Amino acid sequence: MRGAAPRSDPSYPQPVRSAEIRVALSYDDVMLIPQRSGIGSRADVETRTRFSRGLEIAVPIVSANMDTITDSNMAIAMARAGGIGVIHRFLSVDEQVAQVQRVKRAEALVIEDPHSVGPDATLTKVQAEAERHGVTGLLVVDDANRLLGIVTSRDMALQPDGGTRVTDVMTPRERLVVGRPETTSSEALELLREARVEKLPLVHDDGRVAGLVTIRDLTARMDRPGATLDAKGHLAVAAAIGVRGDFLARAEALIDARADALVLDIAHGHSNHAIAALEAVRRTVGDRVDLVAGNVATPEGALDLARAGADAIKVGVGPGSVCATRVVAGVGVPQFSAVMDCAEACRPLDVPVIADGGVRAGGDVAKAVGAGAETVMIGNLLAGTPESPGEVVTRDGMQVKVFRGMASGPAAAARRAAEREDETEFFPVVPEGVEAVVPLKDAARRIVADLVGGLRSGMSYSNAHTIREMNEKARFVRITPAGLRESHPHGVSYR
Ligand code: XMP
Repeated sequence: MRGAAPRSDPSYPQPVRSAEIRVALSYDDVMLIPQRSGIGSRADVETRTRFSRGLEIAVPIVSANMDTITDSNMAIAMARAGGIGVIHRFLSVDEQVAQVQRVKRAEALVIEDPHSVGPDATLTKVQAEAERHGVTGLLVVDDANRLLGIVTSRDMALQPDGGTRVTDVMTPRERLVVGRPETTSSEALELLREARVEKLPLVHDDGRVAGLVTIRDLTARMDRPGATLDAKGHLAVAAAIGVRGDFLARAEALIDARADALVLDIAHGHSNHAIAALEAVRRTVGDRVDLVAGNVATPEGALDLARAGADAIKVGVGPGSVCATRVVAGVGVPQFSAVMDCAEACRPLDVPVIADGGVRAGGDVAKAVGAGAETVMIGNLLAGTPESPGEVVTRDGMQVKVFRGMASGPAAAARRAAEREDETEFFPVVPEGVEAVVPLKDAARRIVADLVGGLRSGMSYSNAHTIREMNEKARFVRITPAGLRESHPHGVSYR
């Protein structure tokens, strides 16, 4: 009788390539297993972590380097919330530098180079300068930067004639309370409170301006002890660079602007030109700044970038909410496995992993950290917040904001229009991202607080006191489609 030969018959070819295909998992395929826990309250877990080898942050949340997610406003909100923002790179070097500078100026114990005008400026000019810099007052200085007075928006409001010279309305030097370059923040606070004023210029003995302290910055700092700060007390910020064209000059300019980390950002980070670019940036910038590189989705990719000098590895090929790479190119690794594999590979080198894309709620953050990531990068969940760049438009009677993949057709068209011809990687023949709209949302800090709340809960179920413990102790089960259905609210309709 003729029939199929048994599979074990050695005279038939055994399938090799298909037998080698392993299963990879996404966040929805797994659940954290509850473990006996000694953690009494979620408040008892410590969420401090590393964005990169040299940059610690209080909460493991990073805003994505996308042009509809992170410019200076988002970066300021993220640093204040204890995370960090990565300013996107789809703008000119000067524009990106200006974004970094805005973050650096947003809040500081001492503003080292305060905005000023000359004594002959008219109120119209002063008003324009104040608006351009987003400040409520300007110092008035002479040619040698010696302090002559302060003009505030209140002084201007009381003088309707825009042609008036600033010296006629400012508070002159002799009526100002000033500090010295070495005045400490607590002395400054006392001086400001005693004099019941908002701004304290710091001056050298010869009258030259040394800086400015504002009550707003001092009290903001006291309200937010967990903010991410650089060594000088300014908010910390990262900035993305590419791997072609002006990327080395861009890196230099961003370091001059005091960016705290650079993120070498390319869709296929495990490519020879990405590795060569990373090595070139490292040669150029030395150890002046941490370098993050990505994106990869395999342990080999993560190791190659770590060995080429990366201080953190960004993991994620295709999990993002507006990504189409997996559909268009058929490429990607489900994110949970990608993060776990890369984190395992990077651990001996002590290089942190950033889980980039696909996070939909706090539970995904907990799973990503349980898989070994030290931070997660967020796009979608931060889209539509007041801090995300972009216009509010009305669609079907609802207010929404545009959110788009960086490899989407409209994003590529915008760059082409701006003549960023070096961005050929992002001029795909077929777009690998989509443009979408999202409803308006709460402030970014509230989104971060929700995500961190979920993470804290996941950590306490896992008996993990710290992010490092969560990386090591988390245990998972694989679930079935029935398990997934059971996991979501069911048998009820939303009110
Ligand atoms: P979420 O899910 O948080 O993901 O919105 C944000 C991440 O998505 C990636 N990204 C893209 N991936 N095509 C892609 O394949 C794109 O056009 C695209 N734009 C963004 C990126 O890693 C981001 O951080």
